[in-house]
Amino acid sequence: MNLEDAQRLDAADPLRSLREFFQLPDGITYLDGNSLGALPKATPERIQSAVTQEWGQGLIKSWNTAGWIDLPRRLGDRLAPWLGARPGEVLVADSTSVNLYKVLHAALQLQQGQRRVIVSERSNFPTDNYIAQSVARAHGGELVLAETPEEIAGLMDERCAVLMLTHVNYRTGRMHDMGLLTRWAHQAGALAVWDLAHSAGAVPIDLLGCAADFAIGCGYKYLNGGPGAPAFVWMHPRHEGQVWQPLTGWLGHAHPFDFDSEYLPAPGIQQYQCGTPPVLSMTALDTALDVFDAAQKLGGMKALRAKSLALTEAFIDSVEARVPGAIIATPREAALRGSQASFSLPKGVDGYAVMQALIARGVIGDFRAGTPELLRFGFAPLYNGFADVARAVDVLADIVASGSWNAPQFTSRAKVT
Ligand SMILES: Cc1ncc(COP(=O)(O)O)c(C=O)c1O
Repeated sequence: MNLEDAQRLDAADPLRSLREFFQLPDGITYLDGNSLGALPKATPERIQSAVTQEWGQGLIKSWNTAGWIDLPRRLGDRLAPWLGARPGEVLVADSTSVNLYKVLHAALQLQQGQRRVIVSERSNFPTDNYIAQSVARAHGGELVLAETPEEIAGLMDERCAVLMLTHVNYRTGRMHDMGLLTRWAHQAGALAVWDLAHSAGAVPIDLLGCAADFAIGCGYKYLNGGPGAPAFVWMHPRHEGQVWQPLTGWLGHAHPFDFDSEYLPAPGIQQYQCGTPPVLSMTALDTALDVFDAAQKLGGMKALRAKSLALTEAFIDSVEARVPGAIIATPREAALRGSQASFSLPKGVDGYAVMQALIARGVIGDFRAGTPELLRFGFAPLYNGFADVARAVDVLADIVASGSWNAPQFTSRAKVT
C-alpha cells in the first residue's frame, strides 16, 4: 500500500472525522495508543475548568455540586455498553493492578477454600501474574501457568479456582475467545476473570453474553483517559452480596457518611470502591468518553472493529512485503487479533534501536523485551488511519534497509521502553 492508496482509503473512512477530536502533534505517526492513548482536544480545557472553577471556586462543595462523588459510578455507566455490561455494574477506580487484586481475592473467596489454584498464561502481562501469585499465596494456593494458549484447557482441573486471562495479549495482540474459555472454566467449576486492558475501546466485548465472572482494565490505553488514568472493574451481578472484596475502604461502605465503626459493604459494584477518587484524572477520562459517544453515532464498535482489523491487516501485509526477515507475532486470523500488530526482526538487528530510530523520525510504537523481542504497534481506530500505516512502514523499511538504527543514540536503553 503506497501513500496515495492509503489516503484514498482514509478519505472513504466513515470514522475519519473522529481524528479531529484528538490533538496529535504535526509530523508524528502515533502507533502507541495501546500503551498511552492520545490527548483529546477537549481535555485540557475541561481539566482547567475542573481546577479553576470546581476546585478553585467550588472548593469542597464540588463533591456535591459538581458531582465529584458520583464520578466512579457515572464513568462506569458510560463505559458499560463498551464492555457488554449494564449501567450500574461497572465502577471506575484505582489501577488495573489494584482492581485485579480485589477481584481475585473475591473470586477465591467464592470458592470457599475448596479450590485454591489460579490458572493463567506465562505470557500474561507481568502485573497480572505477580498479583495472582500474591493472592494465591494468601489463600494457601498457587498460580499455575500455561506455556501456550492450547495448554490452558488442560490446566482447568478440579483444583482450579479461577481462570485469569488477559483478553488481548500485550505482546502479540492475540485475542482469546472469551465466551469459549469462560464456558470451559465454568464447566471445570472455576470462575473466569478477564483483564481487558488491551480490549476496552478497541475490540467488541460481551461480558454478560459470555457470563464472565469479573473483569478489570485500564483507562489510559484505547480509552484515552491520560497517563495513569483510573481503571475499571466489573462483577457479574450473580455474585452480588456474596463476598467482601479485600480493600474495604470507607467509600465501599453502604453508608460512608454515617462514619460507622463497623464495615458494611455497599451493594453491588460500589463495594469495589476503596477510597477517595482522583477527581482530575476522572475528569480527563470523562472527557475522553465523549469521543466514544461520537463514535457510537458513526457505527459504534462494529465500525471501530472493522477499521481496526483493516488497519492491522494492511500493516502486517506491508511489513511482511517490505521488511526482510520480519516475523509477524500477531495472528492473521481476524477473530484471533486485537488492535495491535507486533513482529520480531532477524538476529543481528537490534529491535530496541530500530524502535528508537523510528521514534526519532516521528513514528512512535514501542519495544517489548522477552523471547522473542518484539516491536509493537497499536492501531487506535478512533484516530489512526491508513496513511499512518503507509508512513510507518516506509520509515521502518528504510531504517532496516539502511542500517541507520545502528548508532549510539539509538542503542543505549532508556528507563521506559
Ligand atoms: C494486560 C495489562 N494489565 C495491566 C496493565 C497495567 O496495570 P496498571 O495500570 O495497574 O499499571 C497493563 C499495562 O500495560 C497491561 O498491559
